[in-house]
Amino acid sequence: MAVANDVRPASLKRIKTEAQAKKFIDQQIKEIKEQVKDGKVLLALSGGVDSSVCAALISKAIGKQLTCVHVNHGLLRKGEPEMVCKVFSKQFKSNLVYVDATDRYLDALKGVKDPEKKRKIIGKIFIDIFAEEAKKIEGVGFLGQGTIYPDILESKDGIKAHHNVGGLPKNMQKFQLVEPVKFLYKDEVRVVGLALGLPESMVMRQPFPGPGLGVRCVGAITRDRLEAVRESDAILRAEFKKAGLEGHVWQYFTVVPDFRSTGICGGQRTYEWPVVIRAINSVDATAATPVELDWKLVQSITAKILKNVKGVNRVLWDVTPKHPKNNSGTIEWE
Ligand code: XMP
Repeated sequence: MAVANDVRPASLKRIKTEAQAKKFIDQQIKEIKEQVKDGKVLLALSGGVDSSVCAALISKAIGKQLTCVHVNHGLLRKGEPEMVCKVFSKQFKSNLVYVDATDRYLDALKGVKDPEKKRKIIGKIFIDIFAEEAKKIEGVGFLGQGTIYPDILESKDGIKAHHNVGGLPKNMQKFQLVEPVKFLYKDEVRVVGLALGLPESMVMRQPFPGPGLGVRCVGAITRDRLEAVRESDAILRAEFKKAGLEGHVWQYFTVVPDFRSTGICGGQRTYEWPVVIRAINSVDATAATPVELDWKLVQSITAKILKNVKGVNRVLWDVTPKHPKNNSGTIEWE
């Protein structure tokens, strides 16, 4: 889309169907080829919808001239790094650099309680690792980015300083950006992702924060409590899927706070963490309504968590709304 500014071109009609998506894909492949020629592109692949669709598009256009870097910060959901590796190295046959940086992150986060400090550390290490990997690949001239249109609009309006917009660290500013989905809205990105052949579970996935499970392991992150978050999240997602709620609830996840309570197991006293269930509906995340879950579903999630998640003896259900003006809670706990 050869436009000088950041305004969606009037000629780009809303993409709703597979045929419209295919036309968009063909056009983008042509434009990416023209832009990159025989150059090399580097892309940070989080496994989120936007970066995955962007990677798949660039990969279709220039194949092995693209290198994707997937950094596992140890705060991803169960099965996620495996899925990213499978899709991009097997299905798309991309050059994929997988960095397991779990220890580096968890060491740096040790004892850090403040949510904002946690976020800063997670963001900074990511940039360091990405820059380290970029240095190892010779002749990279381009950076692929999954910027989407709402990122541009929100940055313009000063609502959110989006990392994809104007936030490149100094040592990366020499790269030219390749942003094939920057004029698309989220629903259009999903249609394009499906037309590209990405798995539905990747394309339709619910929003997931950049700092990952790190903001759901409240307070200072420990490996055991982080595992409790990851395991309980996997159980919750499986139960929602079984109940036919996947794709019908905007966001659902679990949180493990940093406090314990008394319980009982096999006639013995226990003193362990609670798991908090959070399920909300929203349109754009600025406000949220707790979802009225079926009681049987709540009971079955509770039973499965108590049976399978180590270190947990209690399950709570967070019914707090998010309201822009009234006293309320944000969607995430940190
Ligand atoms: P809050 O907690 O502010 O979350 O009500 C609103 C939405 O944004 C997601 N979220 C993030 N997404 N990076 C992201 O990409 C982040 O640091 C981040 N923090 C929160 C959250 O999951 C919810 O959908």
